[in-house]
Amino acid sequence: MCKANVADKKPAVIKLEAGTYYWCACGDSKGQPFCDGSHKGGSFHPTKIVLNEPTQMALCNCKQTQNPPYCDGAHGKL
Ligand code: FES
Repeated sequence: MCKANVADKKPAVIKLEAGTYYWCACGDSKGQPFCDGSHKGGSFHPTKIVLNEPTQMALCNCKQTQNPPYCDGAHGKL
């Protein structure tokens, strides 16, 4: 499997409201860290995030995490 493109070398630390989100896995979205449909035709698919309450999180922007959609520190090795 090919590697995703690095959108940024640091995570998006954000507080999201309750709702459904789609985390960009391919790295090509112009609306990082979320999917904008740019993956279409490729081998990557977005990761669905469902939140029942407002939640602070660090979403991976380097797209190399082993624990998507969360930052696992992999960006530190780029
Ligand atoms: S931003 Fe990707 S692992 Fe931290």
